[in-house]
Amino acid sequence: KQKEASAMLTAHELAAKWYHYILLNTEQGKHALEYLRSRGLSDKWLDFFQIGYAPAMKDKLFQFLLKRELPQTLLEKAGLIVERSDGSGFVDRFRDRIIFPIHDYKGRVIAFAGRALGDLQPKYLNSPETPLFNKSRQLFNLHHARPAIRKSGHAVLFEGYMDVIKAWEAGVVNGMATMGTALTQEHALALRRLADRVVICYDGDRAGQTAAYKSLPILEKAGLQVRVAYIPDGADPDEYITARGADKFRSEVLDYAMSAVQFRLTYIRSNFNFKDKNDTVRYLKAAARIIAEISSPIEREHHVKALSDEFSYPVEAIKQEMNEFRQQFL
Ligand code: GTP
Ligand code: MN
Ligand code: MN
Ligand code: MN
Ligand code: MN
Repeated sequence: KQKEASAMLTAHELAAKWYHYILLNTEQGKHALEYLRSRGLSDKWLDFFQIGYAPAMKDKLFQFLLKRELPQTLLEKAGLIVERSDGSGFVDRFRDRIIFPIHDYKGRVIAFAGRALGDLQPKYLNSPETPLFNKSRQLFNLHHARPAIRKSGHAVLFEGYMDVIKAWEAGVVNGMATMGTALTQEHALALRRLADRVVICYDGDRAGQTAAYKSLPILEKAGLQVRVAYIPDGADPDEYITARGADKFRSEVLDYAMSAVQFRLTYIRSNFNFKDKNDTVRYLKAAARIIAEISSPIEREHHVKALSDEFSYPVEAIKQEMNEFRQQFL
């Protein structure tokens, strides 16, 4: 078992180096390299994140690793090769994809994420679950971000790998992302061991906002103080940084992150039609219940006042709704 794990680590380390070499030094890697450069990644960051390219060939990596005396059964179990459905043998799992290595907290490569070059589906292909790799625990970039998070107590959670990388380039060195899967309680607890505050900075589209709404209670349950940063116009952090620059990303997105309450109040709005009186009342009820969760009376007062002003609705009624909810449920 121990021996198998260490051979798997060796296989990943060799594969990462091989993919990285193909990207930077070969003819086959050229178009991938141009693609990455067109997305604003300089060689410095390609090296830092060990980004690579898996060539469009059936078993080049497999052959390379076999020569290093790594057996086929091990490579299969490590998720680096897959058996063809027609039974004609094994091929490389990742072909014609940009490769993002996934590191454990010690910085050892334990898996890969492969991004298609064009619009091919799936856009991302990940390593399968293996003895080294558990998606519901793994956070991308944790090994790089750990010291900064420890020091400041403060982390940023992104949706995608490119967001983490571009944010890092922009000087945000406490960013991480899940592996494209939903955030789990395990992720949240792992974060809690390093941080006390987290900013969720997912994509500004509907999917990203819904994911943020779902991640919020999971992080809160782990004891983290959560805020939510919003990227305008449905863009993602990568696109925002490319278009508006690093300074604006920090000063106008991250620094303006909403409190959890503010985010919830904003997010649920899309479920209501404010031209309809009854729906407006339903929103005020839902909002009063969100506000009821706030422990500080002054903050509660502030939000009640804001709602009252916006909807020209009596403060007293909103307050009473809120207090009844507090007495019943909190
Ligand atoms: P780019 O288009 O390269 O900028 O990627 P993105 O991160 O902006 O992609 P998107 O917002 O669509 O998805 C966010 C994250 O979800 C990705 O970084 C992946 O982790 C994950 N993801 C997206 N598409 C897929 C997919 O087809 N399969 C899997 N397994 N994960 C995906
Ligand atoms: Mn590294
Ligand atoms: Mn998205
Ligand atoms: Mn995105
Ligand atoms: Mn993107």
